[in-house]
Amino acid sequence: MSAMRARRCRCSSSAARARLYDVDGNVHIDYVLGNGPAILGHAPKPVIDAVARSLALGQVYAGQHPGETMLSERLSAVLPGPEVVRFATSGTEAVLMAMRLARAFTGRTKILKFEGHYHGWSDQAYISARPPLNEAGPAESPVPVAGSPGMPKSVLDDVVVCGWNDLERLKSAFDRHDGEIAAVIMEPVMVNGGAIPPGDGYLKGVRDLCREKGALFICDEVITGFRVGLRGAMAHFGVTADLAIYAKAVAAGFPLAMVAGRRDVMDTLIDKGVMHGGTYNGNVQSMAASLAALDELERDDGALYRSMEKCGTRLMRELAALGKKHKLPIKVQGFPAIFQTFFTDGPLPRNYRESAACDRDRALAFHQALQEEGVRVGQQAKWFLSTAHDESVIDETLAAADRAMAKLA
Ligand SMILES: Cc1ncc(COP(=O)(O)O)c(C=O)c1O
Repeated sequence: MSAMRARRCRCSSSAARARLYDVDGNVHIDYVLGNGPAILGHAPKPVIDAVARSLALGQVYAGQHPGETMLSERLSAVLPGPEVVRFATSGTEAVLMAMRLARAFTGRTKILKFEGHYHGWSDQAYISARPPLNEAGPAESPVPVAGSPGMPKSVLDDVVVCGWNDLERLKSAFDRHDGEIAAVIMEPVMVNGGAIPPGDGYLKGVRDLCREKGALFICDEVITGFRVGLRGAMAHFGVTADLAIYAKAVAAGFPLAMVAGRRDVMDTLIDKGVMHGGTYNGNVQSMAASLAALDELERDDGALYRSMEKCGTRLMRELAALGKKHKLPIKVQGFPAIFQTFFTDGPLPRNYRESAACDRDRALAFHQALQEEGVRVGQQAKWFLSTAHDESVIDETLAAADRAMAKLA
């Protein structure tokens, strides 16, 4: 068996702090972190202690309880703008709730989404998340592409797909579908399509255009929430959407998602009887986990974020420097707690098509070479950091990346 095969994480057996252990006895420095939730590292003691204490209280009540109220008050105080918070169990479900609310509130049907943005795996949302470019139509007016066999074609009629980070294209899409668009949904930083930040003024431009056209603006902060700082990407960029969706890091690894937003929109749940269900919504353990995670993340005015951001900034900078040392066309883009390493001689990508034009084979080879050196990153060479990735973990990672790049070069 080759060294590369021996290192591949075939099946995980446990995880603690920044490391993941597999059934073959390998140890990996983990930058996948369950695709984002483990913001405090794996098995963070304050969170699992709080969950353990809550176990004897029961798990699901099918009725409100103080944990839900406490958490919604804490979250409303931290996040930008929410007047009402409603819990769900997964990001996919929270997206479905937000889209249903927008349709009920506006009386319109179509949802505009952006190419390369992922909003969960439902039939209604898993559209043009990673479309093959030969099926995706022209960049000015992309064709909606179903992401999976088994999705009914009819769902494509209710979605308008647009290229991201380009206000003119959004204006044209609104013109083509005048009065039909209930909401525009986006990842405020396009993490799933390449850890790409919005251009200057883009989010504000989208929000203003939505207002002008009578559509709601929905920010899907499932990844960016509690990761691009405690208050998420909307606070970072100074823009507040009508509805925002959070999941993943909000409960540091336990299943929790939510929609937070304008009271008048959220009130359609009551006024218009908009249905939102879910047996495990508001379950006792997820509330306990999230409250304990918030205690940690808010402690000392966000001290954990400050050190995570310092480590992440250093990692990004030194990975780029290692790329230069090995004469590899590596570019690093994103935020200290979530970034991507691209292989390209051109400028940094600004949207899905530019990201897709980067050398994905080399990114995959880098991912594999890192894996061989005991560093686990996402397949597109995407890196999630946690507060457990301290300076010594970064030292180890950079030494491994140096060896991995030497192999690639
Ligand atoms: C931006 C975004 N929205 C929604 C989802 C769906 O969340 P979940 O996997 O919890 O259903 C994801 C999952 O990765 C995501 O990245």
